[in-house]
Amino acid sequence: MSPSQSLTSSTTTSRLNQINYHTMGSAGSPTMFTADNVPRAAEDPLFGLMAAYKKDTFDKKVDLGIGAYRDDNAKPWVLPVVKKADDLLRKDPDLNHEYLPIAGLADFTTASQKLVLGADSPAIREKRVVSFQTVSGTGAVHLGGAFLSKFLPQPTPAIYMSSPTWANHNQIFTNVRLPIKSYPYFSSETKMLDFEGMISALSSATKGSIILLHACAHNPTGVDPTQDQWKKIAEVVKAGSHFPFFDCAYQGFASGDLAKDAWAVRYFVEQGFELCVAQSYAKNFGLYGERAGAFHFVTAPGSDAQDTVSRIASQLAILQRSEISNPPAYGARIASMILNDENLFKEWERDLKTMSGRIIEMRKAFRDKLEEFQTPGTWNHITSQIGMFSFTGLNEKQVGILKDKWHIYMTKNGRISMAGLNTHNVTYVAESVSATVKETQ
Ligand SMILES: Cc1ncc(COP(=O)(O)O)c(C=O)c1O
Repeated sequence: MSPSQSLTSSTTTSRLNQINYHTMGSAGSPTMFTADNVPRAAEDPLFGLMAAYKKDTFDKKVDLGIGAYRDDNAKPWVLPVVKKADDLLRKDPDLNHEYLPIAGLADFTTASQKLVLGADSPAIREKRVVSFQTVSGTGAVHLGGAFLSKFLPQPTPAIYMSSPTWANHNQIFTNVRLPIKSYPYFSSETKMLDFEGMISALSSATKGSIILLHACAHNPTGVDPTQDQWKKIAEVVKAGSHFPFFDCAYQGFASGDLAKDAWAVRYFVEQGFELCVAQSYAKNFGLYGERAGAFHFVTAPGSDAQDTVSRIASQLAILQRSEISNPPAYGARIASMILNDENLFKEWERDLKTMSGRIIEMRKAFRDKLEEFQTPGTWNHITSQIGMFSFTGLNEKQVGILKDKWHIYMTKNGRISMAGLNTHNVTYVAESVSATVKETQ
């Protein structure tokens, strides 16, 4: 059957279903949403992986797919400072469950601006930032995408994202109808940044495109540009009059140093860009399910800057109102209490060091063990990559063997969550990877 014949036949079937539905009601075709209209979507690969891991009864099974921090006993970790703020909040006799304003909790968004842009940011000083509390980082990415799609001059420019990127980027920006393009990012040869490929693609992007950048701890590769490379990226983005869109989901979680992890965003602001930032508090506060995040729009310096941000704020309020009305309160209250209290903030910095430090230790231990077991290939990328994830370079076949033979679960692209490693399982994982690589050589 030719594609046009098959299209005609499926259109006819769906039309017949509609007629059936209207003439016979539930006795005919009981739904308007037939498989023609609503084809079954592919299962999210991560959920399939999680289900397979849960079902596995092997006592040494290891979950390296999970995108959440785990302690050295493979358990979720409530940050002590979050526990403290949570207790204080629960005991507060004035706590109520009223709606937050459309833009969210003002103390939270103001502190969030300072956290990511720096307390002495020229953009904050010159009042050319507008911030909205969002449904975590995903909501912030979405709000930014919806705004750009609606208000950038027509024809709507494409958004360029790194290849690979966090899988949800593609879905979110497709949903808001932004054309999607990609730039090379990861070199499978060096297992580090394909800097030349990235610069060359950004240099030839259509003028005025949106460039999506991971502020730090790139997901899924764990590969970040150096500060000199960021400077070059900024040059190219400026030369193309592009709009930088930063996704900042791991500030403080990557290196343990909040300023270091926000360096690229702050550098771009210093360079006078108009840009936006999607900020998540899922990983750095461990507030995954509380959905605390923020969207920041920074306009370029100029005499009209304050007017520009206030017009943008008025439109963001309409978008926010039509989608969520008001953001969720509890997680933002916890984050706000910590961000606005000097002592709690210091405790938080210690907790961040605990998480990032454990992950950095695991990187070292994993690499050492792989080398000790004389695993073919080079493994220095394990320690030079940063943050939650590592792109190991393991191929799909090896990933399959690790799952079926060794009960070690990771995504098919060879990405592992470093948080899934701990002092009890790192030797077992390294041994298994080593045996698998040798077996498949
Ligand atoms: C790159 C990136 N952006 C955004 C997010 C958003 O996460 P959340 O919506 O849980 O804050 C994540 C989470 O994994 C991520 O890795």
